[in-house]
Amino acid sequence: MIAPSILSADFSRLGEQVREVAGAGADRIHVDVMDGHFVPNLSMGSIVVKGLRPVTTLPLEVHLMVEDPGRFLDGFVKAGSDAFIVHLEVLPDPRPMMEQIRGLGKKVGLAFNPDMPVEKIEPYLRDIDLALCMTVFPGFGGQAYIPESTERLQKLRELVDKHNPACEIEVDGGINAATIATAARAGANVFVAGNAVFLADGGPAAGVKELAALVKK
Ligand code: DX5
Ligand code: ZN
Repeated sequence: MIAPSILSADFSRLGEQVREVAGAGADRIHVDVMDGHFVPNLSMGSIVVKGLRPVTTLPLEVHLMVEDPGRFLDGFVKAGSDAFIVHLEVLPDPRPMMEQIRGLGKKVGLAFNPDMPVEKIEPYLRDIDLALCMTVFPGFGGQAYIPESTERLQKLRELVDKHNPACEIEVDGGINAATIATAARAGANVFVAGNAVFLADGGPAAGVKELAALVKK
């Protein structure tokens, strides 16, 4: 499954570009939310989800790269978000947050950065819909895939198969035509891509199609 990250989109033509990736077969839209604290950058808030909601029927998944995710859930739910991905780094005990998201009727994802031991997510795998393995340090689009990520994805795949095979393994950061097959072989089945979609030579639709074809192979 391909999840274009609109962080790399042309915001002056956001609706048009989201329609374009949806038409090309994208499976969901990845919305990167940054607070300038958890990551050294600012991006967007629920107003962007609100603007996109009438534009697409694809799920809008919100990747909360923020220190205090609980503060923002309601606003994003009202705006029309379908899924939330929160970071283990800011949640010493993620269970209450997981339950809160579930209680809102939304899908629950847990993310972890490249320097977090993969085993830290193991106790929660049974109770989440999606595990997001960061393959760059979050904050900016267009960074290079960290090669050590492949082994981490393999480890995550083993743990997911053991505890909850239905849990999706999403990979985020530096996914492009050169890295996507490696991530797929290692066990990922949802692929976030920002630059590789929205800055693709042939345009966003071509970017989605190229990545999807590589995953199939
Ligand atoms: C990283 C974000 C990613 C990122 C992906 O801070 O969580 O979603 O924008 O962009 P690319 O695919 O360009 O690495
Ligand atoms: Zn992301």
